Amino acid sequence: MRSMSIRRDLPKMMAIEKTLPAKERWPEHAFLNRPGKPIVIACVLPSQDGQAILGYAVYQMGVEAIELLRVVVAKEHRRQGHGRQILEHFKKRLTANELCNLSIWVPETNLPAHLFLKACGLRATSIAYRAGKTNQPDDYVFEYDLYSGMKAA
Ligand SMILES: CC(C)(COP(=O)(O)OP(=O)(O)OC[C@H]1O[C@@H](n2cnc3c(N)ncnc32)[C@H](O)[C@@H]1OP(=O)(O)O)[C@@H](O)C(=O)NCCC(=O)NCCS
Repeated sequence: MRSMSIRRDLPKMMAIEKTLPAKERWPEHAFLNRPGKPIVIACVLPSQDGQAILGYAVYQMGVEAIELLRVVVAKEHRRQGHGRQILEHFKKRLTANELCNLSIWVPETNLPAHLFLKACGLRATSIAYRAGKTNQPDDYVFEYDLYSGMKAA
């Protein structure tokens, strides 16, 4: 994994975003930092020859935790272990940065993502209810705790 280059990587990431269902796409500005907003960090998993982007992640660093905001693997590269590789990268960063918790919120409707996160050792620990305020589905909160491996629900 390496940091995202806005000039080199962002156009390729936006091409991958276009292959996602419209409701799930992120606009370009969501990958960039804006004044007054919490700092987000984007990183990419390049192909071996460095020409293609296999997947990417966006996250925020907290005092004790890393919050993943987005994990995407390009459609043609799925089910080859790249998503797992991205998650393993973040688990290692917990140790390297003396942090203890990795979390991600995923819509309750995204069953493939639930199965993926579970396969990567994260566990659904709570539901973030939207209380009918929007048409958006509620989110399941998945977490990995460094000290317990899997956080108890
Ligand atoms: C979810 C996503 C990141 C998984 O990436 P990936 O590279 O295909 O995942 P991996 O190949 O590393 O899968 C690891 C394991 O997760 C599970 N898994 C992954 N995708 C799955 C699916 N669609 N259905 C069921 N299980 C799945 C499997 O156990 C898999 O191991 P296996 O292939 O040996 O059976 C990818 O499908 C994606 O980008 N989806 C669209 C964006 C999205 O929903 N993001 C939310 C991410 S939390």
